[in-house]
Amino acid sequence: MTTTNRQFRLAARPQGLVKESDFRYEEAEKPVAADGEFVVKTEYISLDPSMRGQMENRADYVAPLEIGDVMRAGGVGHVIESRNPDYPEGTLVAGTFGMQDYAVVTADMPRVRRLPDGTDPVLALGVLGTTGMTAYFGLLDIGEPTPGDVVLVSGAAGATGSIAGQIAKLKGCRVVGIAGSDDKCNWLLDELGFDGAINYKTADIGAEIDRLCPTGIDIYFDNVGGEILDLALDRIRDNARVVLCGGISRYNATGPVPGPVNYFNLVFRRARMEGFIVLDYADKFEAAGREMSQWIADGALKQQATVKDGFKLLPSALIDLFTGANTGKMMVKTS
Ligand SMILES: NC(=O)c1ccc[n+]([C@@H]2O[C@H](COP(=O)([O-])OP(=O)(O)OC[C@H]3O[C@@H](n4cnc5c(N)ncnc54)[C@H](OP(=O)(O)O)[C@@H]3O)[C@@H](O)[C@H]2O)c1
Repeated sequence: MTTTNRQFRLAARPQGLVKESDFRYEEAEKPVAADGEFVVKTEYISLDPSMRGQMENRADYVAPLEIGDVMRAGGVGHVIESRNPDYPEGTLVAGTFGMQDYAVVTADMPRVRRLPDGTDPVLALGVLGTTGMTAYFGLLDIGEPTPGDVVLVSGAAGATGSIAGQIAKLKGCRVVGIAGSDDKCNWLLDELGFDGAINYKTADIGAEIDRLCPTGIDIYFDNVGGEILDLALDRIRDNARVVLCGGISRYNATGPVPGPVNYFNLVFRRARMEGFIVLDYADKFEAAGREMSQWIADGALKQQATVKDGFKLLPSALIDLFTGANTGKMMVKTS
């Protein structure tokens, strides 16, 4: 086994869309575990839009990175060296191991999950990982779906949106997704069973929402913010729930972003718009994972992943999230 630890570090704070030059490739020595610690060899690394925010110098719900830091990223890998009896060599784990081959993990590092032998890492990083949990708790806890509700999902062919829409279908809702290509829309309709799909890059979005949701929207699951949020707000029904999951349309903005113009419809429609951070549900992840695993086993919940092969593709894979090159969960297989 090689002792070189390939890493991507933050080289520059991004201006606008993230660029490859915002990352610096380095080769360090493989770390060694101290007492109570263990070393993980990462095999799959997750790419998430929130990584763009961590590259900026602003306080958020997680601390920003400093220039020179190893890029923070979720991953799955095996324990290859251990001085912690709870995590013996060979244990499969998921955690925030960073954009690197080897991570040394202290016993009390938050959010390290032991995965049962034989777990599919692609599922563990996707539908059974952070984005799946985000869809599950955002839709069920904040959206509170009831049968017959009309649910509109933006970013619908992405990791979070595709799972949120399918869970809404499982709960008996009528689901319309918004995504950035005809292929993605066909996938939502033909493979995932959505009731309607809108290509926001070519359609008159408002007119299509009116056509596909003629009685209005009960739940809007928002992954993108911006103009689409405004169009949805204009079409909510009484007691609607607007789930603020993300706002990717604004993540690369270089200046202040205008707020939604149509927010006052929340008053007229006695509606609720609420944000959430999935990490606040961490103590419920295990139970949610069991329920979603059963749905997967029953064929009622499907995951697609865009898996790039090769460590050096990590920066471009992150950039690709902002151009919509992924369908479902974006990750890189690194070894
Ligand atoms: N609240 C939380 O705790 C939490 C946790 C995880 C993720 N999130 C948020 O959930 C959202 C989805 O994250 P994800 O990891 O599942 O990523 P993802 O949806 O798998 O990938 C991002 C997708 O966003 C779409 N997109 C990119 N730029 C866009 C734009 N300007 N307007 C509209 N769509 C755009 C692209 O698809 P198209 O081809 O359709 O454009 C792309 O595939 C993000 O906003 C993320 O920050 C929130």
